[in-house]
Amino acid sequence: MSHQGQTTLDIEADLEVKYQVDITNDIFNPENPLLLKNVDRDRPAGKQLVVLDAALSDVYSEPVRSYFAAHGVDVDVLEVDSGEVNKNLDTCLAVVDALESSGARRQSNPPIAIGGNVLIDVVGFSASIYRRGIPWVRVPTTLLGMIDGSVSAKTAVNHLGNRNRLGTFHPATQTIVDTGLLVSLPERHIVNGCGEILKMALIKDSRLFSLLEEHGPALVSSGFQEAPAAEVITRAIDGMQSELRVNLWEKDLRRIVDYGHTFSPPIEMAVVPELLHGEAVAIDCLFTALLSHLRGWLSGTDVQRIARTMHNVGLPLDHPLFYDLGMLEQAMQEARLHRDGNLNLPIMRQIGVCTFTQEVTKDELSQATALLKALANSAGEDLPEIAAQH
Ligand SMILES: NC(=O)c1ccc[n+]([C@@H]2O[C@H](COP(=O)([O-])OP(=O)(O)OC[C@H]3O[C@@H](n4cnc5c(N)ncnc54)[C@H](O)[C@@H]3O)[C@@H](O)[C@H]2O)c1
Ligand SMILES: [Zn+2]
Repeated sequence: MSHQGQTTLDIEADLEVKYQVDITNDIFNPENPLLLKNVDRDRPAGKQLVVLDAALSDVYSEPVRSYFAAHGVDVDVLEVDSGEVNKNLDTCLAVVDALESSGARRQSNPPIAIGGNVLIDVVGFSASIYRRGIPWVRVPTTLLGMIDGSVSAKTAVNHLGNRNRLGTFHPATQTIVDTGLLVSLPERHIVNGCGEILKMALIKDSRLFSLLEEHGPALVSSGFQEAPAAEVITRAIDGMQSELRVNLWEKDLRRIVDYGHTFSPPIEMAVVPELLHGEAVAIDCLFTALLSHLRGWLSGTDVQRIARTMHNVGLPLDHPLFYDLGMLEQAMQEARLHRDGNLNLPIMRQIGVCTFTQEVTKDELSQATALLKALANSAGEDLPEIAAQH
């Protein structure tokens, strides 16, 4: 049908994006210039805004202030409470207000976010809406933030009980990764990061999986400060960037990096803060591995290797909500909306090789939960024979 007198103007423009990830050490040593790389000190007015995870106040507030003082840069430090419960619009507005009061310029003194990925997602979101988008810099201080968030273009806050419901694509101009910052990170959060490393290993890097399988417990107990930590972190970041750079704006909704992120999101949100993100993702990884096993793809031996590796690094193998078929189906329904009508469930063919499936039956879900229970109750040792297929 056409309407008389109607004209259509087609407008098309490209959105070019460039951003950098710097891997360094001793980031707060005034001799390390990276934190000021994007700050133009020749321009007048405005203070440099640093948004610091309040949990890091004792450790890093002083080094941050001394760093900028050593360079003659006035700094405003806004401390923000961490944790998933604070990943909301209120925190976002507090950051926006701090941008306003610090007199941030539109381009040449980007706010610097230092903290866990919750804080980083919120600051990124704030930067993306302030004056319709200003550059920003991030310094992740959790393992998860370093290996998963560091190349991401996504910012977000939770809303109406939904994970990351409000958000934007607005990558940080610069990301600085300094694994020395992990020394103060509690062990549970180191383990949490292993959940996302496991995901990356399972979908595309069998060598990464072997490293985690063999060295996981030692990596955790050293807080990723000893070999092969550097190789593991580099491989995980590299795996992520190679997937993202070809589909940064997510025009293609078949994304293997969504592995482990189909059943877990509503479960994670339903029990916040009981399950951490990487923990929920890891359980989903194992559950989806069982779906693959039920289809005759992934061997029982490989399922057990995955479960044992999770157990050995300290990741949970299950959670009561993963036995709730209604919850699992609701999660698939929500995933379909998020993926524009298709389930696009990433599923392993073997460790390091991933494909997609568009349908999972209730019977498959139910069988997978039975296998999950046996595996979880035996710390990954006991995987029952699969019932004859009909
Ligand atoms: N943007 C993305 O692409 C992306 C990717 C992965 C995850 N995420 C989001 O990241 C969030 C999880 O991030 P997280 O695991 O970093 O959680 P988090 O930000 O809650 O940090 C975990 C806890 O550790 C504390 N902490 C952080 N660094 C510390 C350090 N060095 N020493 C001592 N304590 C420290 C924090 O204050 C917090 O209490 C989720 O909201 C998830 O949705 C986003
Ligand atoms: Zn994730």
